[in-house]
Amino acid sequence: MTHARITIDRDFTIADVPHRLFGSFVEHMGRCVYTGIFEPGHPAADARGFRTDVLELVRELGPTVIRYPGGNFVSGYRWEDGVGPIADRPVRMDGAWHTIETNAFGLHEFMDWSREAEVEVMEAINLGTRGVEEARALVEYANHPGGTYWSDLRRRNGAEDPFGITLWCLGNELDGPWQIGHKTAAEYGRLAQETAKAMKLVDDSIELVAVGSSNRGMPTFGTWEHTVLTHAYDEVDYISMHAYYEEHDGDVASFLAEGVDMDTFIDGVVSTIDAVKAAGKHRKQVNISFDEWNVWYASRYNDVEAAAIAALGWHEHPRLIEDVYSVTDAVVVGTLLHSLLRHGDRVKIANQAQLVNVIAPILSEEGGPAWRQAIFWPFARMARMAKGRILRLAVSSTQTPTARFGDVDEVDAVATWDEESGRIALFLANRSLDSEATVDLDLRGLSATAVHSAEVLAVPDGGDRHSANTLDAQRTVGLRPLEGVALDDGVVRLTLPALSWSAVELEVARS
Ligand code: AHR
Repeated sequence: MTHARITIDRDFTIADVPHRLFGSFVEHMGRCVYTGIFEPGHPAADARGFRTDVLELVRELGPTVIRYPGGNFVSGYRWEDGVGPIADRPVRMDGAWHTIETNAFGLHEFMDWSREAEVEVMEAINLGTRGVEEARALVEYANHPGGTYWSDLRRRNGAEDPFGITLWCLGNELDGPWQIGHKTAAEYGRLAQETAKAMKLVDDSIELVAVGSSNRGMPTFGTWEHTVLTHAYDEVDYISMHAYYEEHDGDVASFLAEGVDMDTFIDGVVSTIDAVKAAGKHRKQVNISFDEWNVWYASRYNDVEAAAIAALGWHEHPRLIEDVYSVTDAVVVGTLLHSLLRHGDRVKIANQAQLVNVIAPILSEEGGPAWRQAIFWPFARMARMAKGRILRLAVSSTQTPTARFGDVDEVDAVATWDEESGRIALFLANRSLDSEATVDLDLRGLSATAVHSAEVLAVPDGGDRHSANTLDAQRTVGLRPLEGVALDDGVVRLTLPALSWSAVELEVARS
């Protein structure tokens, strides 16, 4: 039997929950845009071609900010191709994904769509094939009210009011040899510095994200961040992190513990930022934008799919990396969200990659339905329920051995306390494949008066850890009530099913 004791003290807090921690990502890749969020002619499409069935699911998922338009795509993208009359927009070859890009969807369409989805836009610029001039033109186009060349072009293209985009990414994964316009850290650091300066001369209210390492395994990880920030610390506000996780060779114990890897990765980047801050005697604080993270079976892509796509020739919106997610993947996604929340004092932005079809919580069929994947649920619940202050928990749990991370806690948990609503939101994962976990929760300075809600995602009846939602069975994996949450003289007792992720809201009063 797995057991954990969790102590919560209302005075031990980490930070306010960052509003932008529950972000997502829309790239011009595969079927994320075309036949994902945008499909003119679909029975559920509105007059602009936006799929309203997908929009409803996006609102239910609850992302607060969405990064756009890439990803690897942005490193070869000309933003001007995506504005103006659609009939005049050029059709281009997108080298990043070996795809024909029609440009039928561009900046104006994304701004309109994001208003419908009720999300903030995080715009990435191309620092692969382009540079300072195109970046400052785009800021002028998007954010200047009018009376200049680029802002008046926006108005002629139908947007009288500026878009007011605050958050900008200075390129994408430029440390990676696969990236169009790949650079050394010194080349990128200087380019990021000068581009940031020019963009802020157009609009000094914007916030900028410098490119960090594409993953922790990159040979330049650490030195890349150090060099880039040594050049650009004063000009940027965040440095990016990206990480994708998958189960390797049936080592499910290590896969379930990938949140530990994410914790270590974040701690490493925090140390590098702070080393540059100290050496440069900087006063301001650069923080982290974890703007691509998820479970992604990337080895399948690298070993099989990439070659298949190239062999297909050039097509519009091919099916790319449409991973179907299992119960196991959903539990891992829950623990990755735990790691991000635990680091909310330094990780201020995070974007699950991506939103629809491409390694996504939402799948859609061309001309057909849209549905929720298993990984939809931890994101949707945490985005809605994690409010107020992040609490610093003391967790004492049964340990489980893993090949990659040594012994790890079998129960992983995070919590927030929203004084306004008088609620604690508690999120828990049981990493054991075969054992229930009992959890005792000791509250200090607060007493639980009622259980507001308690739900769990676990292996469905008759299923196994690989169970997933598909076109033919869209509701196999979901949330069900977590039974038997007991309040007893200040102590809360819970029992978590094996391999599960739970969300519990408690009504609390100060004691
Ligand atoms: O999200 C899929 C791809 O993964 C993105 O385009 C790229 O930035 C990353 O390597």
